[in-house]
Amino acid sequence: MPPQPDLTQNLIGWFDRHKRDLPWRRTADPWAILVSEVMLQQTRVEVVLDYYERFLKRYPGAQELAAAGEADLLAAWSGLGYYRRARHLQAAARTIVEEHGGAFPRDFESILSLPGVGRTTAGAVASIAFGLPYPVVDGNVARVLARLFLVEGDFRKRAQARRFWDLAEELLDRRRPGDSNQAFMELGALTCLRKKPRCLLCPLARECRARQEGRCDDLPARRARRPPLPVRLIAVLLRQGKAVALVRRAPGTLMAGLLDVPALEVGAGDDARARAVRWLKDRFGLGVRGLEEAGVARHAITHRRVRVEVFTAQPAARETAALLREARGEHAPAGIAPEPDEQGLRFIALEEARGLALSALARKILAAGGL
Ligand code: ADE
Repeated sequence: MPPQPDLTQNLIGWFDRHKRDLPWRRTADPWAILVSEVMLQQTRVEVVLDYYERFLKRYPGAQELAAAGEADLLAAWSGLGYYRRARHLQAAARTIVEEHGGAFPRDFESILSLPGVGRTTAGAVASIAFGLPYPVVDGNVARVLARLFLVEGDFRKRAQARRFWDLAEELLDRRRPGDSNQAFMELGALTCLRKKPRCLLCPLARECRARQEGRCDDLPARRARRPPLPVRLIAVLLRQGKAVALVRRAPGTLMAGLLDVPALEVGAGDDARARAVRWLKDRFGLGVRGLEEAGVARHAITHRRVRVEVFTAQPAARETAALLREARGEHAPAGIAPEPDEQGLRFIALEEARGLALSALARKILAAGGL
């Protein structure tokens, strides 16, 4: 069935009445819109709200981000996760400065060729910032389309993506492409929910094939996901006065450059206390006293379900000098426990650490340890 010609108009009318007042909807600045779209790629709106304005204050344009140091950039991104996005965004900023003379490119192909920008993000920026008629398909839009038109399959799979993009293109209101795209995204985010869609509030309920056929629950098709792998970590919060010992993750590893709490991955049956004591001695040359279990932190990260047993301890007397000794040693299998850089442990005042590039997991570990 071809899309109804007035379907998009209904939806845009609904969007005009019900859209959320989000800070990136109050700007026409393409840089700000790119920042919001990159942040939203894998992160919920509520989380992005905490970062977006602070990030833009620090990096109000491509020039400022292009010139930023890595530690500053990671600190500004810290907690948003998927740090590759931050590095890509900086690479995009440098492309804008070096190849476009600092002016944000205004054509779709140039936007699409920015690092970290795929068809979805390029479509969003082109349509929202420049009013260019390019569609957007993200997870929310795909869910709306799958239900409206009974589209089977996964929009992320190359062979099946075509149908979704063709529909999105056909449905796009070319006079208001930015609002048109955001209306589909918004419907997916607020009404056409994955579980328990709010069909009674949906402006498209009458046209929705899945609703007519009672198939809202089985569309879109579930992605075949591997069940997450359980990972057990032991983290040790070593306190000395107001400072806590942290490690910087080594280059070339997951979340490189971020600060983390020293932690090791252990097997399900291992004795946490004994492993922690031996590991601190072997890796950092450090004896500890007062090792106490303080709490548990949980974290989900790409295909892993991480459970961290958090201990607190103090360095044994006269051990502190050994802290900066070179770190070597065993490989951490899941790559989630930090592989420290060559400087090993360092004591950093807690208040200062909070302003640095701490991983989201590190923040949870500090909280679980009562810090
Ligand atoms: N998700 C990604 N970009 C969005 C936008 N501009 N509005 C609503 N949801 C989004």
